[in-house]
Amino acid sequence: MPMAVATSFALIVRLGWHDSGTYDKNIEEWPQRGGADGSLRFEPELKHGANAGLINALKLIQPIKDKYPGISYADLFQLASATAIEEAGGPKIPMKYGRVDVTEPEQCPPEGRLPDAGPRDPAGHLREVFYRMGLDDKEIVALSGAHTLGRARPDRSGWGKPETKYTKDGPGEPGGQSWTVEWLKFDNSYFKDMKFLSQIPLEEQKEQDLLVLPTDAALFEDPSFKVYAEKYAEDQEAFFKDYAEAHAKLSDLGAKFDPPEGFSLDDVTSDEPADEKKEEAAPTPEPVAAAVATATADDNNGAAPQPEPFSAAKYSYGKRELSDSMKQKIRAEYEGFGGSPDKPMQSNYFLNIMILIAGLAFLTSLVGN
Ligand code: HEM
Repeated sequence: MPMAVATSFALIVRLGWHDSGTYDKNIEEWPQRGGADGSLRFEPELKHGANAGLINALKLIQPIKDKYPGISYADLFQLASATAIEEAGGPKIPMKYGRVDVTEPEQCPPEGRLPDAGPRDPAGHLREVFYRMGLDDKEIVALSGAHTLGRARPDRSGWGKPETKYTKDGPGEPGGQSWTVEWLKFDNSYFKDMKFLSQIPLEEQKEQDLLVLPTDAALFEDPSFKVYAEKYAEDQEAFFKDYAEAHAKLSDLGAKFDPPEGFSLDDVTSDEPADEKKEEAAPTPEPVAAAVATATADDNNGAAPQPEPFSAAKYSYGKRELSDSMKQKIRAEYEGFGGSPDKPMQSNYFLNIMILIAGLAFLTSLVGN
C-alpha cells in the first residue's frame, strides 16, 4: 500500500465517527436526532471545535462525490472510514449502505454532542455521551481502540505534543503526538501501550512520547471499562471482533436508509460465502489495486468494468447471510436500472461504490504526494 494513502486513514476514520457520533437516541425525528446523515459536510458543523482539521478529510472525499454524485455523503464517509480500518490491517467491518443525506446546513446537529477529551469525570462523561448514542461500556472501550491510528495536534484539538520521536519525520505531514508507535497500523497496540503507561507514575507518563488522553486513561481506571481494556491488550482477535461489531453499529447511528434495511456490498458483488473469504485471508493491497485498474479502464475508454469482489480485509469475523427479501430487493434494484444480478450492468450504484473505493485510494495517494 502506498505510504501516502495510509497517512490519510486516521483523518478519514475520524470524519466517519464525527458524522455519526452526534446521534441522540432520545430524539426520534430524523435528522434532528443527528448521526450518520452527511451533515458534517456543511460549514456550521465543520466549524464545531471538535471538528477542527476535518475539512481536510472532506477535501479528499469531495472529488469522489463530484464524480459519483449518486452516492450519498453519509455513505461515502462511512465507506471511506471502514475501508481505511480494513486497509490499515484492521478487521473487516460488516457494513451496510443506503444512508440518506440531509440537504441543508440548518439540519446540522447542535455543537457539543461529541465527547471532550479532558472532562472532570472522564469515565462518567464517556458513559453520558456514548449511552446517549445507545452504546455500552464494551463498545466504548472497543471504539476507543481506533486511537491505535493517527495523532493529536495541539493546533487542532489542543491535545498532544507538537512533535515526538515517532512523528517528527512523518510519514505524511510531520508532527503531532500518536497513541502508538506504529500509528499507521490498526492493531491492539493502543491497549498494550496504555496498559504499560498506566502502570508507571503520572510524571513519568508525561515524559513519554506516546499520548494518553484523560478519557483514554479512564479505560484502565474504571473497573467496568478495565475488564475490556485488559482483554484487548492480551487478545487482538477479541479486540478485532468487538471493534468490527461496534464500528458497524457506530456507522449506522441515526441513519435513515433507503431501502429501509440498507444493503451490503459483499452481498451484491460476490456469491462466495463469507466463510470461504475468511479462510483465504488475502493480503490487503491487491483487490484495491485491481479496482484502481478497473476505474482507470472505465475512465480511459469506457470499457465495461466488472465489479470486483470487495475482499480487502485480512480478517473476517463471521458469516452474514443475505435474507431472501433482501436478495429480492437487490434484484429489483438491478432490474430497475435495466440490469440483472447475474449479468452486471455497465453503470449502477453498486459498481460506482466499488470504483469509488479505488478512487478514494487513488486520490489520497495524489493528495499525499
Ligand atoms: C472516547 C472518546 C473520544 C475522545 C475524547 C476523542 C478525542 C480525540 C482527540 C482530542 C483527537 C485529536 C484530534 C486532533 O488533534 O487532530 C482524536 C483523534 C482521533 N480520534 Fe478520537 N476521540 C474519542 C473517540 C474516538 C472514536 C470512537 C474514534 C473512532 C471510532 C476515534 C478516532 C480517532 C482517530 C482515528 C483520531 C486521529 C485523527 C488524525 O490523526 O487526524 N476517536 N480523538
